[in-house]
Amino acid sequence: MSLVVSLQGKSALVTGAATGIGRATAQRLAQAGAHVVVNHLHQAEAAQALVDEIRAAGGQAVAIGADVSQAGEVQRLVDQALAATGGIDILVNNAGIIQEKAFLETTEADWDRLLGTDLKSVFLMCRAVLPGMVARGGGVIVNIASDLGILGRERYAPYCAAKAGVIGLTRSLAREFAPQHIRVNAIAPGPVATAMVSLEHMSAEWVEKELAIPQHRLADPAEIAGSVLFLACDLSAFYCGQVLGPNGGSVMP
Ligand SMILES: NC(=O)c1ccc[n+]([C@@H]2O[C@H](COP(=O)([O-])OP(=O)(O)OC[C@H]3O[C@@H](n4cnc5c(N)ncnc54)[C@H](O)[C@@H]3O)[C@@H](O)[C@H]2O)c1
Repeated sequence: MSLVVSLQGKSALVTGAATGIGRATAQRLAQAGAHVVVNHLHQAEAAQALVDEIRAAGGQAVAIGADVSQAGEVQRLVDQALAATGGIDILVNNAGIIQEKAFLETTEADWDRLLGTDLKSVFLMCRAVLPGMVARGGGVIVNIASDLGILGRERYAPYCAAKAGVIGLTRSLAREFAPQHIRVNAIAPGPVATAMVSLEHMSAEWVEKELAIPQHRLADPAEIAGSVLFLACDLSAFYCGQVLGPNGGSVMP
């Protein structure tokens, strides 16, 4: 007998899903049967290629471009996603950017850009999607934070602050919406092999730093998508406000 994890009949919106962890997550959720909304920012071709791939494998998907750091764009995204799917059962806040800069050189514009994309977007997306989940009597939200939001890192202050903020936001929403049968959890991955963390483009010093974890390797994006699937399905029914750590051992709470 085999265990079947099914999201049949559910729909899922994944932000920043044209590449990396978001892409792997959209694939995994679609494989499990969800109708997936692939959000992207100016990557229509890559997003459509993913949609075509999912459809060719017998799944359901649609691509919608939107900048999730902008309230108006978020509302349009959610309205279009609702029109395409009939309701959003699973929201994965994955979109993000990173920047390396000495703290004393970090400008107000750097701070606003990082926090806007990595933290405010989660607020905006949750605010736009939660009323529908409440009306439907339940839902799941998975926020992609980072182990750096727990550990901190020199030269990455705005990113680390944003990701720590995602964890605080996750726990607050988990408490506020648990009575409405909405589960809100986060994932704080360690280093993952994506465009964001590409060892080929890093100095030897940073490569050493990235690999200075017990497993001494980067994760494949699919390994993070597995954690998203777990949090999205009923196997995690008793998880509320938790932070999962697929991190190769970088953080051991
Ligand atoms: N790669 C890692 O080591 C790592 C580790 C921990 C956490 N994360 C987090 O995982 C998430 C995914 O990152 P990734 O590693 O797959 O990198 P990635 O660069 O491949 O993916 C980020 C995606 O977000 C999209 N995006 C950026 N700004 C956006 C906006 N305003 N609106 C909509 N989409 C936007 C990008 O276009 C891109 O497709 C991010 O939140 C990142 O902080 C990554």
